[in-house]
Amino acid sequence: MTVPLFLCICFGLICSYVVADDGNSAAGFGYTISTLNNASSGQSLTANLNLINSSSVYGNDIKNLNLTASFETKDRLRIRITDSNNKRWEIPEEVLPRGPSDSSNKTKQGFNNNLIQQEHSLTIENSDLIFTLHNTTPFGFTVTRKSSNDVLFNSSSNSSNPASVLVFKDQYLQLSSQLPKDRSSLYGLGEHTKSSFKLQPDYQKALTLWNADIGSLNVDQNLYGSHPFYMDVRSGSKDGKVKSGTTHGVLLLNSNGMDIFYGGDIITYKVIGGVIDLYFFAGSTPELVLEQYTELIGRPAPMPYWSFGFHQSRYGYKNVSDLEGVVSNYSKTGIPLEVLWTDIDYMDAYKDFTLDPVNFPQDKMKKLVDNLHNNSQKYVPILDPGIAINETYGTYERGLKADIYIKRNGTNYKGKVWPGDVYFPDFLNPNGQAFWGDEIKLFRDQLAFDGIWLDMNEASNFITSGPLQNSSLDDPPYKIKNSQINNNAIPATSLHYGNVTEYNVHNLYGFLQTKVTHKALTNITGKRPFILSRSTFVSSGKYAAHWTGDNAASWNDLAYSIPSILNSGIFGIPMVGADICGFLRDTNEELCRRWIQLGAFYPFSRDHSDKNSRRQELYLWDSVAASAKKVLALRYRLLPYFYTLNYEAHVKGTPIARPLFFSFPEDVATYGINSQFLLGKGVLVSPVLKSGETKVEAYFPAGNWFELFNLSKSVTVKSGKKVTLDAPSDHINVHVGEGNILALQGEAKTTEAARKTAFELLVVASSNGTSSGQVFLDDGETLDFAGGNEDWTLVKFNATLVNNSISVASNVTNGKYSLNQKWTINKVTILGIPKGKISTNKKNGTLTNSKGKSDVKAQFNSSSEFVTVEVTELSQLIGEEFKLEIETK
Ligand code: NOJ
Repeated sequence: MTVPLFLCICFGLICSYVVADDGNSAAGFGYTISTLNNASSGQSLTANLNLINSSSVYGNDIKNLNLTASFETKDRLRIRITDSNNKRWEIPEEVLPRGPSDSSNKTKQGFNNNLIQQEHSLTIENSDLIFTLHNTTPFGFTVTRKSSNDVLFNSSSNSSNPASVLVFKDQYLQLSSQLPKDRSSLYGLGEHTKSSFKLQPDYQKALTLWNADIGSLNVDQNLYGSHPFYMDVRSGSKDGKVKSGTTHGVLLLNSNGMDIFYGGDIITYKVIGGVIDLYFFAGSTPELVLEQYTELIGRPAPMPYWSFGFHQSRYGYKNVSDLEGVVSNYSKTGIPLEVLWTDIDYMDAYKDFTLDPVNFPQDKMKKLVDNLHNNSQKYVPILDPGIAINETYGTYERGLKADIYIKRNGTNYKGKVWPGDVYFPDFLNPNGQAFWGDEIKLFRDQLAFDGIWLDMNEASNFITSGPLQNSSLDDPPYKIKNSQINNNAIPATSLHYGNVTEYNVHNLYGFLQTKVTHKALTNITGKRPFILSRSTFVSSGKYAAHWTGDNAASWNDLAYSIPSILNSGIFGIPMVGADICGFLRDTNEELCRRWIQLGAFYPFSRDHSDKNSRRQELYLWDSVAASAKKVLALRYRLLPYFYTLNYEAHVKGTPIARPLFFSFPEDVATYGINSQFLLGKGVLVSPVLKSGETKVEAYFPAGNWFELFNLSKSVTVKSGKKVTLDAPSDHINVHVGEGNILALQGEAKTTEAARKTAFELLVVASSNGTSSGQVFLDDGETLDFAGGNEDWTLVKFNATLVNNSISVASNVTNGKYSLNQKWTINKVTILGIPKGKISTNKKNGTLTNSKGKSDVKAQFNSSSEFVTVEVTELSQLIGEEFKLEIETK
């Protein structure tokens, strides 16, 4: 790539720095403010902007722009910049509904209409954000945190920031912000495979957002999804005004292709269409940012309980008996198998909604699925969007009749995927949506699948580069760093319903398919759908889970899976996993063993491999099988915890797998961690990611941490630090931190069987005296998740340790549901009580519930540092409030 050349161009008295890109001359000169208007509600302002001077690089500038800044809620500020005179492409509300705005907001500071001063600020009561328009030449704007004066976004140009000038052309938008290099840590902006979760500054390297069928084994390439959202975690300022961990979020809601350049002290967006539609989320914690972000884009879909079990898949299963063999081998070796998947092999000549009559005939497939269901297991088949062009194929014919295929030059656009020539259904077309839903229904009438796997939906096209049509859509003036936007894609000049160009909606294709599939499954089954989609966009999490695509069986790919799953969580798609043991290339015993150790703690846990790589079912090596049994046993014990995190994700947007800074935002050492993650608030996973290693250097934030496989092993750190842990070949380190209460159930081979076992409460005492946790319970599949029918129970647990008195109490919402299930807590373990804090003279306690007060016996075990208290033989209904009290003196 040519190094950009910085030029200083002067006209009149105005001097602007502009970027000459790849040998071209100036891309733009910016705008000035001509007029200003304060909306009557006082929550927003609109400025008219005039172009300073034109430049023909990347096309003509748009002369007049409107900038509107509005507080949609106290925590959400929207800044929209568009052409004053012509309507431009924007993602329609029907396609991606935006969360509610609060119109009762009150402005705090106003200004006089049309009186243009040097600065104009807008804020509202109770908001921590201030928007300021700077009447400079060129104009700029800033977003500032009111409570600390920290500047969060600064579009103003200056000489050390030459690309900061706003450029607005038909097919090229450019916007930058200066950032405080030493205090700002950015996360998000995907989908890319990266070696590090925290974005590494490199202003020469584009983060390209253009959905593409590029294997996720490729680092730093644009992959299957587009998420122009980042989270900015600030470290403390010298003056002490900004506290470390103060976080905000920024979304550029735009579906066009774009390059984003991040240089540490600057971020620049170069977008090839649409409008500038920026949203700022005030936070100020990482959790709150995600709550505010998912309030706008939609909360993650609740997942069915069974989807938290272990899944097995492979591209290349030969026939039904091959599948039966897999199921039976899992059962023989005693490794839990919840879900069996079939890849495109099951189809007749790779045609969607068909079954290969020879190798996967309907009667045998039906029997297989019935058997799975009888054993409390599930089945998920794959679907690709391309419909084979074949006149003997009903689906194709029905699509043709309904006229729902994407068009180019007035006829259906012909692409190529697995079945050969295909047409692509247009999911923007209401008839296309109905077509897809009807086909799913017809297929489900043949085979009672439990979920759907949506693959190749970028959409992938085997035609490397379609003929260019001498159109600036197929060949735009600014080339995003994807080799060519039409490569392996539906050409940009293709048309969707309403004459919408593929150019504008390319990044939405998989998202739209997911949405339609979600609606279809909801209607057909009346149950909570399970959909796994490869391609995603902002808001996909509202409908689907995601896997990280075609990784390779390599140690690097194992490590990169952590940044990838953490990113998906930040994008509002918390149900995510990577192909365990690696998809492409041959895996090996050691890698597969280490991968299942980690993969058992992915929110979505699936082994999947390519047909050209060796088989890798977990039972194939004794050591992998043994390790799998051990780690999946813990996963299944943690199922109530995973499922409760699924609930928290749905009500608040909080990811299931989280970076450490979510729980420890004030600990700046957590900001750069790539090799560990938290499940929920307090379960820390520290895997081995390198061949030959039997120790792991793990970072522990301050506190006491207890090993979940062996509760008597613990780590205590006064302030966060790295600790070397043993990690023998069959072991992964999983710790629970102080202050947490986990509701666990027993080990089992299926989630259904696990749900029939008794609960155990694991209370980890905290140095501040109180611990808490919760569990969400329902039937695992109802559509009305945590809804008004009250067929669910939420139990909150609280524990305190004061003056030699331990108490563990519950608070129950909608107890009826779980009382009917008769779920009980049989055991309470209180871990990590500092030795000096408790006497062990008395070991008697009482349990109070609706039946009154009864005596319980407690057992005490002491290590050199801690006392553990165990109360067994309980049969406390989980749906009934209780209080367990133990006096120790
Ligand atoms: C690409 C997907 O990413 C992969 O998981 C799948 O096995 C193949 N397509 C074949 O369907």
